[in-house]
Amino acid sequence: MMTEGSHSRSGAAQVVFTPSGRRGRFPAGTKILDAARALGVDLDSVCGGRGICGRCQVVQSIGEFPKHGVASRADHLSAFGPIEQRYHDKRAPLAPGRRLGCSTEIRGDVVIDVPPDSQVHRQVVRKRAEVHAIRVDPVVRLHFIEVTPPDMHEPAGDLRRVEAALREEWGVEGVRCDLAVLETLQTTLRSGEWRVTVAVHGGRDVIGVWPGFRDKAYGAAVDVGSTTIAAHLCELSSGEVVASAGAMNPQIRFGEDLMSRVSYVMMHPGGEREMTAAVRVAIRGLLHEAAAEAGIAPEEILDVTLVGNPIMHHLLLGLSPVELGQAPFALAVDAAVNLTAGALDLGLHPGARAYVLPCVAGHVGADTAGVILSEAPYLRDEINLVVDVGTNAEIVLGSRERMLAASSPTGPAFEGAQISCGQRAAPGAVERVRIDPITLEPRYRVIGNEAWSDEPGFAAAGGAVTGICGSGIIEVVAEMYLAGIVDEDGVILPGGAGRSGRIVEDGRTFAYVLHRGDVEVRVTQNDVRAIQLAKAALYAGVRLLMDRLGVERVDRIRLAGAFGSHIDVKYAMVLGLVPDCALEHVTSAGNAAGTGARIALLDRSARPEIERTVRRIEKVETAVEPRFQAHFVEAMAIPHKTAAYPELAKAVVLPARKSARAGGEGVGRRRRRGRLR
Ligand code: FES
Repeated sequence: MMTEGSHSRSGAAQVVFTPSGRRGRFPAGTKILDAARALGVDLDSVCGGRGICGRCQVVQSIGEFPKHGVASRADHLSAFGPIEQRYHDKRAPLAPGRRLGCSTEIRGDVVIDVPPDSQVHRQVVRKRAEVHAIRVDPVVRLHFIEVTPPDMHEPAGDLRRVEAALREEWGVEGVRCDLAVLETLQTTLRSGEWRVTVAVHGGRDVIGVWPGFRDKAYGAAVDVGSTTIAAHLCELSSGEVVASAGAMNPQIRFGEDLMSRVSYVMMHPGGEREMTAAVRVAIRGLLHEAAAEAGIAPEEILDVTLVGNPIMHHLLLGLSPVELGQAPFALAVDAAVNLTAGALDLGLHPGARAYVLPCVAGHVGADTAGVILSEAPYLRDEINLVVDVGTNAEIVLGSRERMLAASSPTGPAFEGAQISCGQRAAPGAVERVRIDPITLEPRYRVIGNEAWSDEPGFAAAGGAVTGICGSGIIEVVAEMYLAGIVDEDGVILPGGAGRSGRIVEDGRTFAYVLHRGDVEVRVTQNDVRAIQLAKAALYAGVRLLMDRLGVERVDRIRLAGAFGSHIDVKYAMVLGLVPDCALEHVTSAGNAAGTGARIALLDRSARPEIERTVRRIEKVETAVEPRFQAHFVEAMAIPHKTAAYPELAKAVVLPARKSARAGGEGVGRRRRRGRLR
């Protein structure tokens, strides 16, 4: 790439992307997707430029653009090509003017518009494979063998000669063989002229045989969340994620949250069968979609690992979750479950296997086992706190010495539910907020729009604001606290004469108006209360585990899950979601549950490791712990009653407060002026 300002060279075309406004010079022949990537433009791609996913669609803006100094003519892009034609014919029709960025070449100066549906951040399901170093030693291995043909003088069956070849060439002993493999074994051996590739699971189970040489086998790691399901398809020998797919969990139609799904089963005997069927169909669909994106047949998938919270785990396996809805929250099975993928009706290779990670306890499921595998606190010397925030917060605390786990009932506020203008993370949801401590005017960013609300690109990209998502509500409440709009008790203070009109009366309390437009987005006193309750539940659960472990501080905090991946950890500290810790040691763990499933898929030693680890974790039941309530009450304050947060105060709180005071009325005066409740 030649950036703007470098001398124009022959053949270099000026490329301007909208709405981001990013621009640069590229040699003729450069693909649009490559130019976008070089410039950091938010252009999606799931299939890696194979012309399969259609996520890289762009539209050329044609005409003179004096503002950009560009004449964007139709022939400045390569003609509609065979890859696009194939996508158009075989996958989905391309709307007029739409081009695939991965196959369209730049031939001259162009202005390229990236529509909202082609931007990565339009993604609703945000669970993507994280970059994580994983040892690759999969449970399923392919072995190419040459089998001795049968002989009139040697009456051994075909399988016995396959076993001999596996033993002699690959050291595989004690072979067992699926009936499904036996059914095709003779024809496969003969069509391959006695040279075949065998898939062996766990070092002894022959689960597939193909004629000739084959060097690729696939597996999938699936994270069954109560809201979303994400699947990552991996090539087993390289460990590479070759495709990812995500979808909403269809069980939502039976109940938004976990307990309402348990209630559904209680009120509709046999209702678990409907939910089991729904989730299996969804997983099957995702795996087939991922296979199509990777250009393979679903029958090439030989192994699947799955994680999910206890209720998702039971519903996936076809087990009633009713016992999980009431004390003592007994699981039907807490050990890891090994079964055939066929038993889950996933429509994969007939010999494909499935492995469901173990559950920790009735409230702490296989998803937490995945988080533990991914974060490996059991291998560390320092005290680690790992928190996976969802409708419940799963909390793991400890080190190689001792590990504790609990689940705390945070409720759905962190996911945008129970918030007056709350919504799921989707296009139009406010996800980032800054409030000027002097004027109290906000700036914000919404999902699907790269620009901040006060930047020209914001309106250009549609400027639609529909609500606030979980990470947005954390930021706005934290910013309201930093700007002195909310006090330590979580009370929204009155705006006062001459102050910003952003603080408005709302019955007997006040609300902060974040966005005015077709949809007014405001943060009410009840919203702040909902966040206080959620964060107090989380913090109280953490404190309980710290009491048990006998520690006052933790050395490292990792925030996992979709919510943990998208909140700015600084704001988690400002609100006191987690205990005091040096800010640089508080980080996001991404989708750690999904990463754990991927580790279990790709590294055979991880399975016994997590099974051993889970059994030695001490479970703490927050519901019956008397100190939980005391910690909960203390944690209602912002950040929390016992907060020291020295680094945070230095870095964030004090400067914001100082500038608020310098700006005029100051936080203290506004607070002293009294409050309405
Ligand atoms: Fe998938 Fe272009 S990147 S179709």
